[in-house]
Formats: sequence, C-alpha cells, structure tokens
Amino acid sequence: MEQTHVVWHTHSVSRAEREKLNGHRGCVVWFTGLSGCGKSTIANLVDHQLHARGVHSFLLDGDNVRHGLNASPAMLANYGEEYARRFGLGFGPEDRQENIRRVGSVAELFASAGIVVLAAFVSPYRADREAVRRLVESRGEPGDFVEVFVDAPIEVCEARDPKGLYKKARAGDLKHFTGIDDPYEAPLIPDLRLESSQQAPELLARQVLSHLEKCGKIC
Ligand code: ADX
Repeated sequence: MEQTHVVWHTHSVSRAEREKLNGHRGCVVWFTGLSGCGKSTIANLVDHQLHARGVHSFLLDGDNVRHGLNASPAMLANYGEEYARRFGLGFGPEDRQENIRRVGSVAELFASAGIVVLAAFVSPYRADREAVRRLVESRGEPGDFVEVFVDAPIEVCEARDPKGLYKKARAGDLKHFTGIDDPYEAPLIPDLRLESSQQAPELLARQVLSHLEKCGKIC
C-alpha cells in the first residue's frame, strides 16, 4: 500500500477554548433506526430546542448528506463515469460503510469545533456505528458519542411510508431496502432508546434533551 506522508497538525485554538467560548461541550448525538422511524423529525426538534437555548448545534441528515458529500453515482455523472463510480455512494454494504465513515469523520470535526452534532442516519451496521464512537471518543472523551436508537416496528414505519419507498421495495422496484431485503442491526446497549411508535416526537425530543442534561452535555 502507498505511503501517505501526511502529518497531523495541532490547532492553535484548542477544543477546550472553543467549548469555553460556546459555553458547552461538543458531542455527537447519533440517531439510528429504520427509514420512516422518526429520526429526522426528532433530531430536528432537538436541534430547534438547542438553538433556542443558545446551544451551538447542527443536524447532519442522511437524505441531505446524500445530496452533496455522499452523492450517488448518478448525481456525479457530470464528472465522468469512472469518477462517479469511484466516489458516488449507493446502498450496498460497502457504500453504507463509507457513508457512515465519511459522516462520522465530519461529525467528529464538528464536535471538535465545540458543536453538538445531531446525526440522523439509518446506519444499519453496528460495526460502522461503533467505529464512529471510537473515533469521536478517541479525539474527545468517553461519552462524547451518544447513540439514540429510534425504535419503531417495521410495520409502523411501512404504514407511515413518508417517501413511498417501502411500497417501491415491496413491489421489487427498490432493491436492498433496509428492513425489507437488507439487514438492520439494532443497537444492543444504546445510550437512549426511544419508542417512536408509542409517543409523540415532541415528547421524545424532550427525552433526548433530558438525557443530554443528565450527562452534562448541556445545562
Ligand atoms: S445508510 O443506511 O447509509 O445510513 P442513510 O441514512 O444515509 O442510509 O439514507 C437513508 C435514506 O435514503 C432513507 O431515509 C431513504 O429515504 C433513502 N433510501 C434510498 N434507498 C434506500 C435503501 N435501499 N435502504 C434504506 N434507505 C434508502
């Protein structure tokens, strides 16, 4: 394998100095769960509440990130076929792994900038989520990665079907759809589990905020 010859530089403004300026620590709150389980809705509500309280937060959302940083090969067609194939991401196991690796890296950078990152990704593989936890906590401290399992039975997600994707997957028009013909590895010991078929998103967002207060991430 090729040698890289890149060297890590220490920043002149430390993370602690940035966090002091912000008045709170940076961290990554990672929402995982099936498509349609309510991740984005809850994460958006938490983001809104944090912003209203003067906390510096930012939401990274699967669907949005896949419009830019992690665009599909089709979206990169203007760059040429070979380039699009090489850098575009779909939903195969390796592509999902790379999606979460890139996003995990971005989330870690935001957290190092003292921001409370809300990441909402299906992120179906345990190993990928654990890799992000390791990265975030190795650059920060234990507890900087908060895994929130947004847990709803697939029947509920499928009945909601906000984007009509379950219907397409059932009809065979969309392959490798998580929960239908692709796996979802639920967290074994999430930091927080939200039963999103049982309670309103506003109440679930409140639970996330209480958890962050309890862990001392926000006051
Ligand atoms: S992940 O599996 O790689 O983490 P990500 O969160 O970025 O997925 O994107 C998931 C979104 O892409 C879903 O909310 C859904 O709208 C859409 N999507 C399109 N194809 C699939 C698929 N095969 N499996 C899951 N989601 C899909």
